[in-house]
Amino acid sequence: MTPYAEVIGDPIAQSKSPVIHRFWLDALGIVGDYRRVHVTPEILTDYIERRRHDPSWRGCNVTMPHKLAVMDLVDAVDPIAERVGAVNTIVPHEGRLIGYNTDVGGIIEPLKRHDRRIGEYANHVATYAQVIGAGGAARAAGVALASLYDVEFYNRTPDKAVALAELFGFPSHSGMGLDRVGPIRNADDGPDDQRYSHVVFNASSMGMIGQPPVPIDLDSYYPDTIVFDAVYAPLETPLLAAARARGLRTVDGLEMLIGQAALAFALFFGTEPPRERDVELRALLTA
Ligand code: ATR
Repeated sequence: MTPYAEVIGDPIAQSKSPVIHRFWLDALGIVGDYRRVHVTPEILTDYIERRRHDPSWRGCNVTMPHKLAVMDLVDAVDPIAERVGAVNTIVPHEGRLIGYNTDVGGIIEPLKRHDRRIGEYANHVATYAQVIGAGGAARAAGVALASLYDVEFYNRTPDKAVALAELFGFPSHSGMGLDRVGPIRNADDGPDDQRYSHVVFNASSMGMIGQPPVPIDLDSYYPDTIVFDAVYAPLETPLLAAARARGLRTVDGLEMLIGQAALAFALFFGTEPPRERDVELRALLTA
């Protein structure tokens, strides 16, 4: 039987994962399949139990609304997924099902490409990340960023931002309302103790088609700020357009989408996807 992986969700028609995995399978000449399966909450348990016994099944990606529910259906949850509180990839391993969260790696990977200081931390400047939003994507961003930066959370509902700040071990005043978003700076900062807002990460729905833009003025942000937007429809959000206009470095939602898929692909098929062909893949996804 042909080995295969899947993506499950409800709805599922919108998922771009089949295009990504099909592209990599073909590029590598792997005999394998990647399918889109409509799984409603009522049949989720049954789906997992059936696949568990199928030797050709290499695992599945999990999208809305199942990312939390599947945590109780797998045999073990990887510590990163545990920290996020959500599973987006399930992989069978020696008869057991393991739940992973590859969104975290999908965030760290493009950041590493842009931020030379990650891993060789320059101590003389405190580096800050600002996360906008406090839902599932913000939790994945929190896990990815908390080990690299001091993180502040900004959200329409400020209480949720405070809760996330505390969850990741930051003081409660690191969580606040959207009205507070702006460059991080103390009034008495001298030239040598500036605080860099090194990353601005939009993990909210703002900037999506039909949604208001992120209410942020990037004018006085430091010039080496990285602006990361998890939104990929549209690919050029108002936030990214504003960042590019000011010469800031940007990471778009497709980089995160491809990054998380790459980690899942390696888990399913045991080999790294050909990332040198990302330009082609991005063209395919935006055609
Ligand atoms: P996801 O799992 O993709 O993160 P989510 O859990 O629904 O989705 O979170 C959506 C985030 O976008 C939330 O932080 C939400 O703010 P609230 O916590 O106040 O609901 C934020 N959001 C959605 N629409 C928004 C809008 N029009 N203005 C500001 N924030 C918005």
